[in-house]
Amino acid sequence: MRSSLWSRREFLRAAGAVGTAASVWNAGGLERVEAATQSVANMTPDEVAQDEFFWREIQLAFKLDRTLINLNNGFTCPAPRVAVESVWRYMDMVNMLPVHYQGPLARNVETIRLRMAAEFGCDPEEMALTRGASEALQIVQNGIDLKAGDEVITTEQDYPRMLTTWDQRMRREGIKVTRLQFPVPATQDFLYTMFEKAVTPRTKVFHFTHITNLTAQLFPVKRLSRLARSKGIVTIVDGAHALGHFPFRLRDLECDAYGVSLHKWLLAPIGNGCLYVRKDSIPKFWPLQAAPEQQDTDIRKFEAIGTHPWAIRAALGESLAFHQAIGAERKAARLRYLTLRWANALKSNPRIKILTDLSEPAQAWGVAAVNIEGIDVRALARFLMNNYRIIVVPLVGGAPPNSVFDYQALRVSPNVYTTLEEIDTFVAAMQEAAQSGVPETPDPVPGYPADITV
Ligand SMILES: Cc1ncc(COP(=O)(O)O)c(C=O)c1O
Repeated sequence: MRSSLWSRREFLRAAGAVGTAASVWNAGGLERVEAATQSVANMTPDEVAQDEFFWREIQLAFKLDRTLINLNNGFTCPAPRVAVESVWRYMDMVNMLPVHYQGPLARNVETIRLRMAAEFGCDPEEMALTRGASEALQIVQNGIDLKAGDEVITTEQDYPRMLTTWDQRMRREGIKVTRLQFPVPATQDFLYTMFEKAVTPRTKVFHFTHITNLTAQLFPVKRLSRLARSKGIVTIVDGAHALGHFPFRLRDLECDAYGVSLHKWLLAPIGNGCLYVRKDSIPKFWPLQAAPEQQDTDIRKFEAIGTHPWAIRAALGESLAFHQAIGAERKAARLRYLTLRWANALKSNPRIKILTDLSEPAQAWGVAAVNIEGIDVRALARFLMNNYRIIVVPLVGGAPPNSVFDYQALRVSPNVYTTLEEIDTFVAAMQEAAQSGVPETPDPVPGYPADITV
């Protein structure tokens, strides 16, 4: 049910938006998000997803460069101003007298562990805070004991840095790394069977993404974790793109370890990640930097990295509050709504192909991949940037140790602050490209796309 006109008016007053719009954003800003959420409390997430009035409030919570259309939110996302401002606040606080304030702030950050665990469905003693997904995943990838000949099964479409980590262990210790290839989109059954068939008596680790950073292919994490556990195999899941993007509970996945970039979909300031390790699996992994034996079963052993900026970690609390103020279900529904808006507008064009499964029930939310028959995606990305100032990532497969895949696509990833106008500009630009083609050797735009990272 949609909220009544009267409650809408009340909301406008509560939010201070009548007549003055963005200028009334206060330093905190969370109040307005919470007021907006209250005003849609009796609507379903799918109804809220289409409520531009609500999302306007969310858009105003960020300081963005609206001269560019950012459809590359799979890289690193802007944090809401409430989180950015808290970085400065904590930074100033510690900097007044680091020897005095650093210790207490480090201890206070324990509250973030508690809140992260409660929000994402695990025990606080299973939640380590890291600086990103690379750190989180490399802790467990490098921290597990493997002998020469022991086998890791992963996929060709896993993240290059994580594949490089296994590649280095292969070169250094002689472990065997099997990289499975799959078509996109693939069904959950196909992916399950692909791993099941690949298991050998030497298989010790499954490593795969929850959703890939390429086409956002979803993996059957729970089924694969159960399969692995039944055969004494450890499961490491790359959840860089999943946590904070669509709702699920970590414990329900039944994997041993799960690494996340919190500066992606949780909208945390850059330098935040987390590592979930199932309690009984903690002793299986050595920390990346040494910790005392007494910490063998303590999740904090993975955080022993010496002096680092506590302000960034403390500010994670504000991004979490922002995420909670929107609501995980509403956020996921909006991301899917934005994706379906461009994908549905383009899919009837016979030259345009979507490489992500957008059917129901949902398997994709804010990330999907698309290409135009006969057009090189690098040239297409340059055309979008040169003509429309749209930022997207061209995906082109590489050679090992990087990811290997035989398709080309643009990865398109809007976010909660993306406007419908921005999506529609992208649609119009793609239709134009499909109809008229794009220059193969356009004038290069300084800094793009060579330095844009997936
Ligand atoms: C699938 C995947 N894994 C790992 C990472 C590494 O994350 P971070 O940059 O937080 O270290 C990324 C980053 O894009 C990613 O997409």
